This record gives sequence, structure tokens and C-alpha cells, in this order.
Amino acid sequence: MQTLTPADVEHFLARGYVTIPGCFNHTFAQPLIDHAFERMGYAPDDPATWTEPIRYLDHAHKFLIKDLCPRAWGAICDVLGGEGRIDPTIHRMETIHFSSVESFKWSDAFIVNLRYGADEPWRPPAPDTARWHKDGSFFKHFLDSYEQALLVVLQWTDTPPKAGGTFVACDSYQRVARFLADHPEGVTPGACSHLIDQCQDFLELTGQTGDLTLLHPFTLHASSPNPTGRPRFMTNPPVALKAPLDFNREDPSDFSLVERAVLQALDVDRYDFRPTSPREWYGL
Ligand SMILES: [Fe+2]
Repeated sequence: MQTLTPADVEHFLARGYVTIPGCFNHTFAQPLIDHAFERMGYAPDDPATWTEPIRYLDHAHKFLIKDLCPRAWGAICDVLGGEGRIDPTIHRMETIHFSSVESFKWSDAFIVNLRYGADEPWRPPAPDTARWHKDGSFFKHFLDSYEQALLVVLQWTDTPPKAGGTFVACDSYQRVARFLADHPEGVTPGACSHLIDQCQDFLELTGQTGDLTLLHPFTLHASSPNPTGRPRFMTNPPVALKAPLDFNREDPSDFSLVERAVLQALDVDRYDFRPTSPREWYGL
């Protein structure tokens, strides 16, 4: 571990995430947010111009994570077992719809929660919250899938409680791990969502501008209502690996934190996972 502390590691294994605060500040974020409002055609101080409750923007700028915040890059590498395992370009996916995905970079491809769910009373995360999902809509999901090896939530605006912070089911990754172990034939992207009914440890991901949260890629999560009138900007920069997760490494000290978490969920020291059907990318 070059960045994460033993306490960070324990927290990731227990609740499936770790937060690295202050990866950048308001001075860095604000011009990009101002530009995003221009791109959306919305006036920042006039909600009447915000015609959609939530917007998904493409990138206009990219930043090498290592240059912007070496601490953040160090944490990402710690969780995934080292920089050498991360696919820097994901060029294989450019033919689908992720031409802008680059594991080594962050961008201003914002998800802007302007007033999602604002017409109903705010409710805390629960199994009946809408849209619980596991990320990765473009590939068949296996226990060892590598296409989206980390769920990353990067806060670009201060996100106090009840202001659109991502809802997270912290105890979902263990249930998803067991489900995927039981389905070596692979499952469609939406097939894991029903496991939310077994979850009890819910979190509203609040934070400050520049806070980075790295979550286990199996974590179920959902958009949350934002009735505050203050747009919440975040990004979900995906990270891909060069090779599938490996739960049967010769040297146990080579297991990444993501792999260790899965082994812990399965209650085994190692696991010889082998897909029984071909990997598939949807949209090819
Ligand atoms: Fe998501």
C-alpha cells in the first residue's frame, strides 16, 4: 500500500469503500462547472432554465489523475493491486460508446443532479429506492469481470445531506459476489439489482468538493433526490483492468483489495473461478 492506511484497508473490506478527501479545491472545480452550465444552456442562478432534472454530460477537459492528485492515483492503485494492472486506454471499448474512457484520467463528464426527485418528499436510502444498480451496462457480468473494476464517485460540489449525494448499499458487494459466484455463466447487467432486498447498511454519500470515494465495483447504488435547488455535480470515472480479477493467485499477498473483499465475502482463502460461457460486450 502506497497511500491507503491499515484503517482504510479495514474500512474497505468491512463496508466496501474508502474516501480520500480534498483531491482538488473549489478554485479548480468552479471554472469547469461554469463551463458545464454553458454547455447545458442553463443559467446557474435561474432554476427556471433547468429543463431537465438530471443531465449527463460528455467530457470537455481531461486531467491526468497522477498530476492532479498523486494521493488519489496512489489510492486507486492500492485498491486494484498496482498501476501495472490498470488498462490505461480501454481502446478495446472505443467501438462501443465509451470513447472518452481512460483509466488514468479524470474529466468534466459531469452527472448533474439539478432537481431529481424534488417533487416528492425526501426519503433516506431503502430497498424501495428507485434505480438501484451495479455499474457496467455494456458487458456481461462475471465474478472476475475487469471492464469496470472500480466504482468511483468524485464530488465536484459540496454535497451536504439531502442534496443529491449518491445512495450506496454498503453490504451489497458481498451479496453480489456470492450471486456471481453462483452464476459462472455470467449475468446481464441488471440481474444483480434484486439483491438490494437483502441489504441493510445504507449510506448517503455526502462530502465536500474534491472528495473521492472508491467503492467496490459490485456495490449497488442509486441516484438520490435533490430538492435543495443547488445543483450537485459529480463524476463516475470508470477504471478498467488489463486482465480479469484473479482469486487464485499463487502468492496471497498479490491479491488486490477488490479481490480480497470478494474472497472474504465468499468466506474462502482462494477461489478458482472459471467463466462457463464467453464474455460479451453489448452494443458491438
Ligand atoms: Fe451507477
